[in-house]
Amino acid sequence: MGRVLLVASGKGGVGKSTLTANLAASLAESGRRVLCIDGDLQMRNLDILLGLSDQVLFDLQDIFLARCDFDKACVRHPEHPNLFLLSAPVVLSEDPYDLYGFIRRLAEEKRPEFDFVFIDCPSGSGDYLEVLVHRGVDVLVVVTPEPAAMRDAERTAAIAAGQGGTTRLIINRVRKTLVNRGVLPDMDDTIDACEVRLIGLVPEDIRLYVSGAEGKLLCDLRRTAARTAIENTAKRIAGKSVPLAKF
Ligand SMILES: Nc1ncnc2c1ncn2[C@@H]1O[C@H](COP(=O)(O)OP(=O)(O)OP(=O)(O)O)[C@@H](O)[C@H]1O
Ligand SMILES: [Mg+2]
Repeated sequence: MGRVLLVASGKGGVGKSTLTANLAASLAESGRRVLCIDGDLQMRNLDILLGLSDQVLFDLQDIFLARCDFDKACVRHPEHPNLFLLSAPVVLSEDPYDLYGFIRRLAEEKRPEFDFVFIDCPSGSGDYLEVLVHRGVDVLVVVTPEPAAMRDAERTAAIAAGQGGTTRLIINRVRKTLVNRGVLPDMDDTIDACEVRLIGLVPEDIRLYVSGAEGKLLCDLRRTAARTAIENTAKRIAGKSVPLAKF
């Protein structure tokens, strides 16, 4: 049985979708079958980050409304055959909470077919988490090392910890020079504030920003510290013991 992973945060723009796309691609490259569900129902963008925007014809709302079946809406990545995307609607017409309930059931139903089902969550207060989080799912809380994101991540982690499976923290956009100068909180402060075990540390990397804009995956580009950090995080998600990358 595969695992369902929610990629969540409180604050927006911390890198949930970027990490969902690249962690999923990394796991797919290592031979796992991976499904990404874009759970950002109002602001979908996982299709762009995966380089699949031209190929999405149907979405999860279409399945919900019985306009098509799962196989028709699910897009297989042409260069990464183990990687699949189920997109969020272009225009949301249904009650989002009905759709979150549907995503929850669908992810559960797909566990026998996929090694990992990632759900890229929206930012926000976490109301949707009450629907999506349950004992069968693990939660990756993404945070950037800045006080506003840490406070919101703490709240997200608390919701997840109360109801979900395993909760782990990924600290993204780490800028060592700013941390060393004391401008940003150090990693220990961030982990303490969120009260969640760390599973990944990803540096700020302009190539991650550019690749996202171009719809390219890091695993298809030349090696950088961010690529190594994401690959190592993917290995830890898959249960391997890998030391934290130094950068
Ligand atoms: N490690 C990184 N280094 C540099 N840029 C990054 C990094 N991670 C993410 N970004 C950039 O940060 C921006 C926000 O990323 P992304 O859209 O993945 O965040 P998000 O948490 O999904 O946002 P939202 O809450 O709006 O869904 C993007 O422009 C992305 O390229
Ligand atoms: Mg996003």
